[in-house]
Amino acid sequence: MEIRDLTSDDLDAVLDSRRRAFGPLSGDSARTWRELVSPMLPEGRYLGAFDGTRLLGAARINPYVQWWHGRPQPMGGVAGVTVAPEDRGRGVGRALMEAVIERCAVLGQAVSALYPATTPLYRSVGYEHAGVFQRITVPTEALRTVGDPGGAVKLRRMGLSDAAELVALIARVHAASRASGPLCMDERTWRLWLEDDDDFCYLAEDGFVVYRWRNGDIEVDNLVAGSEATARTLWSMVGSASSVAKSVTACVGPDDPMLWMLRERSKDEVAHTRWMFRLVDLPAAVEARGFPAGVSVEVPVEVTDSHRPGNTGEWLLRVDGGSGTATRLDAARGEGSRLSIGGMSALFAGVSTATLRRAGLLAGGSPEADDALDSAFGCAAYMIDYF
Ligand SMILES: CC(C)(COP(=O)(O)OP(=O)(O)OC[C@H]1O[C@@H](n2cnc3c(N)ncnc32)[C@H](O)[C@@H]1OP(=O)(O)O)[C@@H](O)C(=O)NCCC(=O)NCCS
Repeated sequence: MEIRDLTSDDLDAVLDSRRRAFGPLSGDSARTWRELVSPMLPEGRYLGAFDGTRLLGAARINPYVQWWHGRPQPMGGVAGVTVAPEDRGRGVGRALMEAVIERCAVLGQAVSALYPATTPLYRSVGYEHAGVFQRITVPTEALRTVGDPGGAVKLRRMGLSDAAELVALIARVHAASRASGPLCMDERTWRLWLEDDDDFCYLAEDGFVVYRWRNGDIEVDNLVAGSEATARTLWSMVGSASSVAKSVTACVGPDDPMLWMLRERSKDEVAHTRWMFRLVDLPAAVEARGFPAGVSVEVPVEVTDSHRPGNTGEWLLRVDGGSGTATRLDAARGEGSRLSIGGMSALFAGVSTATLRRAGLLAGGSPEADDALDSAFGCAAYMIDYF
């Protein structure tokens, strides 16, 4: 088996593999997929496993930016992992994922995330369950009435030329809200969504919405708002469909402010999907992460990573003034909190030490060290984009 970069000549075979893995693909969807992935080929973001000229499997690394406590860093969003049905169960998927992780490092992506259709494959190469992607369903009428009494927020329809402004807006809002977990696609991917006639996209100074009809109801793909007035304006515009649509299903974070604006809220109707996360380059990822400004801690940790030995060893995690570092401890002390790279990745993504310890992902250390780690890394990480 050989793993190499895919070229445009391979795309028919990859499409065939996708159909066999995920089901039929309409002509339109196949065209959009080609447009989406073609620019990634020369960038080394689509890998294929081959037996001679025959494609066994493929995996893609989307170029995303992800925010951690309001600070952006490049993230490799792994998608389209497929192995031909007749070649499954023989290690192709794992070999592809090992190559994907190495490629993320080459591409300068110190962190990587993915939505797993199955856990063991990804866990075996160091990914661990991290944040949440949730879809909440609310009555359309409940949104119609959250409107901004001031009515001063101006909305305009977004077009292809707005992609750059949109990307900048998303960065401003996630930084200001010190968000953990959400991602932003690059401009060229945004342009693909912005040209879809069935998606309705509106922009404000500090917010935007992308929504569409689905089976007579409304589906909100993205709604990001930097202020109460903008949130009320965008949600109530979506809610203005209440004469026709009974419900709105929206991809929002678990603490989206909209949920605090509803007049009535008792039982949430929510569907959760989890995403997995991996540190590709531990020190680089810690240095690029944002941390709460008031936290100042130093904790030794011992990490094992059988796939990327550069992450293995004893590290001193230092967080101060909103920034962090991981410095290798040359003289082994053996007193740090012990984590596999999966456990360390989950910790970085905000999973509590109490959970990690009782799940067998954290050992050693002390209750004081656990508290220090929680105060630095603890967060309710979320995404509002599925990929
Ligand atoms: C999931 C998929 C990529 C795995 O590829 P593969 O080449 O069969 O995987 P490998 O042989 O390298 O197996 C790696 C590990 O994952 C496990 N695994 C593979 N497929 C699995 C499945 N469907 N359910 C549970 N575990 C699975 C294997 O048992 C193995 O673990 P083990 O060594 O502990 O036994 C392949 O089955 C596939 O293309 N499925 C359809 C599309 C899909 O689900 N893609 C994933 C999208 S996130």
